Amino acid sequence: MTVDWSISFDEKIMPKDLPNAATVEDYIKFHKTSVKGYREFWAKLAGELDWFRKWDKVLDDSNPPFYKWFAGGELNASYLCLDRHVKTERKNKVAIIWEGEPMENGKPKEVRKLTYSDLYREVNRVAYMLKNKYGVGKGDVVGIYLPMIPELPIFMLAAARLGAMFCVVFSGFSADAIAERMNDAEAKILITADGAWRGGKVLDLKSIVDQALEKTKTVKSVVVVNRTNNKVSMKGGRDGTFEELMKGIPANAHVEPERVKSESPLYVLYTSGTTGKPKGQVHDVGGYMTLLHATMKWVFDIKDQDVYWCMADIGWVTGHSYIVFGPLMEGATEVMYEGLPVFPEQNRWASIIERYGVNIFYTSPTAIRGWIKGGEQWVKMHDTSTVRLMHSVGEPINPEAFRWLFKHVGRETVPFGSTWWMTETGGIMISHTPGLMMVPMKAGTNGLPIPGIDAEVVDESGKPQKASERGFLVIRNPWPGMPLTIFKDPDRYKEVYFSKFPNAFYAGDYAVRDPDGYFWVLGRADEVIKVAGHRLGTYELESALMQHKSVAESAVVGVPDDIKGEIPVAFVILRQGFKPSEELKAELKDTVRKAVGPVASLKDVIFVSKLPKTRSAKIMRRVVKAVAIGKPPGDTTTLDDEASVEEVKSAYAQLSGELEKGRKKP
Ligand code: WTA
Repeated sequence: MTVDWSISFDEKIMPKDLPNAATVEDYIKFHKTSVKGYREFWAKLAGELDWFRKWDKVLDDSNPPFYKWFAGGELNASYLCLDRHVKTERKNKVAIIWEGEPMENGKPKEVRKLTYSDLYREVNRVAYMLKNKYGVGKGDVVGIYLPMIPELPIFMLAAARLGAMFCVVFSGFSADAIAERMNDAEAKILITADGAWRGGKVLDLKSIVDQALEKTKTVKSVVVVNRTNNKVSMKGGRDGTFEELMKGIPANAHVEPERVKSESPLYVLYTSGTTGKPKGQVHDVGGYMTLLHATMKWVFDIKDQDVYWCMADIGWVTGHSYIVFGPLMEGATEVMYEGLPVFPEQNRWASIIERYGVNIFYTSPTAIRGWIKGGEQWVKMHDTSTVRLMHSVGEPINPEAFRWLFKHVGRETVPFGSTWWMTETGGIMISHTPGLMMVPMKAGTNGLPIPGIDAEVVDESGKPQKASERGFLVIRNPWPGMPLTIFKDPDRYKEVYFSKFPNAFYAGDYAVRDPDGYFWVLGRADEVIKVAGHRLGTYELESALMQHKSVAESAVVGVPDDIKGEIPVAFVILRQGFKPSEELKAELKDTVRKAVGPVASLKDVIFVSKLPKTRSAKIMRRVVKAVAIGKPPGDTTTLDDEASVEEVKSAYAQLSGELEKGRKKP
């Protein structure tokens, strides 16, 4: 658990005149009905999508936990996001307002506005190119390693149009991370850019890709989009520039959207979990799009005249669902911003809200904490009064961060929530639903499960936990948008999510329910670290350390950080012949950054001679973490390992002693 803040279960914040205001009792009543008849409930929502063929069965549950939603139905995600809009008066509506990071004379140097017709045309042309030049089609995987430029959603939609899967790798990941994902996904083509703008600097994406491809077997072709005019080397027979490849493609090229089965895969997205290598979460088409449709309505209350801005990066699930497929399916106008929200100054994000008159704003606790530190004067420079609804995502929101944004952008009047969900769930699961029924807010809560979602907090034995007591978050019924499986590893899917508690999906989070029934997700119960909302597994970080010749063994834990929520610290046992030193520390930090990517920056490396282990030789992470934080582990948290309180105490004392010794002689 990461954040230590005082929350108040009793506080109720409900500005006057909020549309859809509801009492908790009324919401719970409605929610119960939706869960009871959840199949019919979701079927009604799915009916609001455009299907080429209607489903035979709402839910095929013949082989749990592998569920097929809207089995037998046929549709296409790119059709839903494009074709259905260009047939209407929406065709000239702006779909994406893209703002590049570089500034000139106090203004963004580049802004691109793509209408739904523009987007339709570009996606068709790119699909045409992928199909005719590379033979991309059903059964193929298109790898994508692009920064936040319009070509990123365009390639995703083009792959979806062809019925191919895509696999996006976040542009802050390293060559090794790309290679691992491309190999597992068996991608045959990789789309990248010559560079990416980040904080005023150009990241050399192409050379990272070149390194990755030395370790990749399946990728035979690379498409390079020019973003930064970075000089890159091109490998003959393998690499092509996007501009060249698109030259001969007619402006009105049309590719018929493939009729894909509802239960077929749309994409695979890798995410960190308990142990082992990243897991490829596979999402379907019909269920996933249905959940996005529902949550865009209920959670974001999206209306035709709105300007919507989700600040996430498309390399993570939030961007897949709530920058690409959700808002575009709803025909929204959205802002897509390329770079750092505080570049070149703290007010960049607020200036974007003002420039485009953003109405709906989706952000994160880490971003807000950064702005608090920067000072409110930066927000006050801009008119942000267009904002009528806000949500946060990625990690627990501390009440202070909630109150700050609620005051300085929300004018203490607009709905503001903290949406809980994860890569696995496909879309938002626990949230306020201002577009449907808006229950009072409380600073720091996630609210209640959305309609149709049967979430619960249970104790170690799987029974519902008492109110106000910490337990594990589970989801009982299947829901549209849940993963089809872990790519090529169905056993692992079953094991990780459906073995801890019978008949329930185990999310891996600690949570409490307060006496009103509100959920408060507290943080991960497993070995996942959330750094600035980004999900990193301790396994990946420890494997990275092992690549260094000096490391015999290591344990990485997350410690609280004022801005990033959590930040990793490594405990390292050195091999014979190596001595602790500041240089070695720096080298180890660098090794991790190179192996995983700039998202994985270790705060500290602590050299020890021993790590506390349980009798079955598992590292007692709770103890390591307690030592890193400098607080004894306490008696009550023996939930997650098999050690006795005494053993935990003595391990703590021993490791703390080592830490002290280490501090004295660096
Ligand atoms: C955490 C991100 C508290 C949680 C969409 C979850 C949250 C993990 C919240 C999934 C929130 C996400 N309040 N915790 N509003 N949103 N989390 O897969 O620990 O990157 O299990 O998906 O983020 O991270 P992921």
